[in-house]
Amino acid sequence: MKIFIDTAKLDEIKKANSWGIVDGVTTNPSLIKKAMDSLKKKVSMREYIEEICREVKGPVSLEVKGQKAEEMIHEAKMLYNKFNHVNNNVVIKIPINTAMTEKDENYEGIKAIKALKKEGIPTNATLIMTPNQALLAAKAGAAYVSPFLGRIDDYIRVKMGLKPGEDFSKESYFDESLLEKIRHEKIKRLITEELNKNIGEIYRNEKFPMLSEEFKSGVDVLRKIKRIFENYQFKTEIIAASIRNARQVMEVAETGVEIATIPFNIIEEMVKHYKTMEGMRNFTKDVIPEYEALFRE
Ligand code: G3P
Repeated sequence: MKIFIDTAKLDEIKKANSWGIVDGVTTNPSLIKKAMDSLKKKVSMREYIEEICREVKGPVSLEVKGQKAEEMIHEAKMLYNKFNHVNNNVVIKIPINTAMTEKDENYEGIKAIKALKKEGIPTNATLIMTPNQALLAAKAGAAYVSPFLGRIDDYIRVKMGLKPGEDFSKESYFDESLLEKIRHEKIKRLITEELNKNIGEIYRNEKFPMLSEEFKSGVDVLRKIKRIFENYQFKTEIIAASIRNARQVMEVAETGVEIATIPFNIIEEMVKHYKTMEGMRNFTKDVIPEYEALFRE
């Protein structure tokens, strides 16, 4: 599995890159904002992004900011022309769907991806929440799709009635099997109580909309996308994104996905273990002089 680092903070990119495990970088406007806020001084955005591109060999995703296909195509070309010459590794992130309200168009992202494919500019379809969105992005010719696992988990938890900040935090592990059990028990009880009165409403899914929840978790969405891409041999690579904890990284890796983009603090979390530290203390303490001497010869 390739590891991309999900940050725009240069110090984090450099540090993780020095460990030799960074295959690429993903950014978005929120990550750029966070990186700038963390700096003590004003810097040139152009030079800052050039430095990110120079630092890593692998793909660096930079996101457009427009909503209309024409705007995004224009912005994508600008970003590509400005930064791709630095290290020949720029990928343009295009939201699969740019609608912000019910009135907005839903197909601008796909149109932009298709047009950029024709221009030879690689795209990363972002804000992917369903396998169908991934399927359309792949059909349009996206080089990558980024399903947002953590945000899908948040959506499911809230729909189940859990309260963010109270029942779970951003980093909380999403226990797919436990939540499935709770959901089934809840459904069983509701159906038993309601069956005689409301069979039609239950069948039409009006009474308890969570009855036919499409997905079990963000990782479940990832598994489905993977299967669909394999079915049709799409060349599009999947980047598991919006990863919230190290346990989720393991689940992602178990799916066999090509790439995971991981925040810096989670990469750090992945390498730590209490027993590793304890083992190190003991090994260090147990080094006998004769063994020590070997390293002085
Ligand atoms: O890779 C997408 C990521 O930056 C979004 O993560 O944790 O804000 O949902 P998150």
